[in-house]
Amino acid sequence: MAYAADVARAPRAITLLDEPLVLWRDARGVPHVFRDVCVHRGTALSLGCVEGDELVCAYHGWRYRGDGACAAIPQLADPTRVPARARAFVYTAQERYGIVWAALEPPARPLPEVPELDDPAWRAVRTGPFAWTCDASRQVENFTDFGHFAFVHEGLLGDRSNAVVAPYEISVDGPVLRYAYGRPDAPNTEAFPVFAAEARKDAMRRTRYALHLPYTIVEHIDWGGPDGLVYFFASQPVARDRCVGYCVVARNYNLDQPDDVIQAFERTIFGQDQRVVESQRPDRVPFDVAAELHLTFDAVAVAYRRAMRAHGFGSA
Ligand code: FES
Ligand SMILES: [Fe+2]
Repeated sequence: MAYAADVARAPRAITLLDEPLVLWRDARGVPHVFRDVCVHRGTALSLGCVEGDELVCAYHGWRYRGDGACAAIPQLADPTRVPARARAFVYTAQERYGIVWAALEPPARPLPEVPELDDPAWRAVRTGPFAWTCDASRQVENFTDFGHFAFVHEGLLGDRSNAVVAPYEISVDGPVLRYAYGRPDAPNTEAFPVFAAEARKDAMRRTRYALHLPYTIVEHIDWGGPDGLVYFFASQPVARDRCVGYCVVARNYNLDQPDDVIQAFERTIFGQDQRVVESQRPDRVPFDVAAELHLTFDAVAVAYRRAMRAHGFGSA
């Protein structure tokens, strides 16, 4: 995946589950995802360029259409007499929420519905992307973890004198874990005025999470009034020890605030998390619940491990 704004007509190389891919847009702006390998001599198609509706290989100029068919081989006397085997390997591409998504197999489920991200009354900001050297499961689990706010994000999302995690319930709805959590609000700092003005020092920040297996989280925050903040987070599993997090943050207040305030805030927060999470061993969440030590307030981590195993995403 990639932010849609970063997928221009120039092809872009990405990696998904160790598979090298190339993202590109045709003349109408429709995104395409191919395996980043030319069938002729194995050259990375991402080294090429887009001309009209065709991706042109950098080595010998073979031209591929969006459906993967090769339209022309310049070395042939008649360049259009293309053998049927001359094709790019096409994967599923979809553009939604300002992100171009790639899937190695036909998607088993649609993307989560997040109406706020399509609503002009909300302002959505792309943050990151956040490339970490760990498995996507560790990055996702960190996003679900309440206990670290007081320590890793002291002063921004929590405070050490108030580290107790209040009890909460989790419901499991097929491949979606839902839970809600209320906690005393951390007031805005001068550097990062990102939370709603209605939030006061004594306010409760009410947070609802939906964790869509394996690596997507939708988080809704409010303070009891109409102001709302939505986090849409998805981690791209690049390799067993690498991932890239995409985090779109939408709000229906402070609509004139420049995007770089939230971008800088999330850069700080994710940076604080990164050094801790990249140090975790193993790089991937051990899906056997006996493998680490879980206390009651770690219920999300336990539910995530169980659900990942139940849905075939995580072997122990
Ligand atoms: S390797 Fe791509 S055209 Fe020859
Ligand atoms: Fe964090």
